[in-house]
Amino acid sequence: MTENASSRPSIPPRQRLIVALDVPGADAARALVRELGDAVEFYKIGLELMASGCYFELLDWLLARDKRVFADLKFYDIPATVAAAVRQMARRGASFLTIQGDRAIIEAAASEKGELEILAVTVLTSIGRKDLREMGIALEVESLVLQRAKIAVTAGADGLIASGLEAAALRSELGPGPRIVTPGVRPAGTDAVHDQKRVVTPARALASGADYIVMGRPIRGAPSPRQAAEAVQAEIAATLR
Ligand code: C5P
Repeated sequence: MTENASSRPSIPPRQRLIVALDVPGADAARALVRELGDAVEFYKIGLELMASGCYFELLDWLLARDKRVFADLKFYDIPATVAAAVRQMARRGASFLTIQGDRAIIEAAASEKGELEILAVTVLTSIGRKDLREMGIALEVESLVLQRAKIAVTAGADGLIASGLEAAALRSELGPGPRIVTPGVRPAGTDAVHDQKRVVTPARALASGADYIVMGRPIRGAPSPRQAAEAVQAEIAATLR
């Protein structure tokens, strides 16, 4: 186990895998959750389910089954609007909510979060150096992630969304405090990175200091999603041993 991981012993190992329920509606979501059974304890529900209209019904259904919920809604608006939306979300029972933006936006979110933990999106894992150049950002991806992370944490974010490639640098800059949640995770030996650009394996993400890993397509698209999830749980358990 790494020094960083050992300093955060309180997360139950099986909650470190968060499965992204990127499916078109409540029926597909419930079918996948039932199939995964006790192999998965933590789910991320995001924009597709929000747009489908079943978001809060599904959130309640997950909570009633003792699952933890990560609301990945990536709020980005003026501070007053974000604060008001976070105030509403804080009553819903999710554990995590994603926010994007500058210091004032994150401060506004933190001021209304209650028990809800605010995770700041640093740079999407689908974005690479070339994409930043096109958007007029001259920094390297890692420098931008670190810069945004420092602002987010001092503004009151509980944690950060960052790729496994930046997790080690974030830990050494920011210490053990902030949660690091890492999407763009792929099992060793897979060629299927989809639209992700900054990918790592579950073991590498955790060994680099990530607290949680988010996986969607590698589990949903596996011949047996349950077996795929159990294989990731076994890798997590072996990495933390
Ligand atoms: O299918 P896959 O494992 O690539 O899913 C990754 C999930 O994590 C998606 O739901 C995506 O929206 C989310 N995500 C991400 N990168 C971020 C933040 C969230 O891929 N920076």
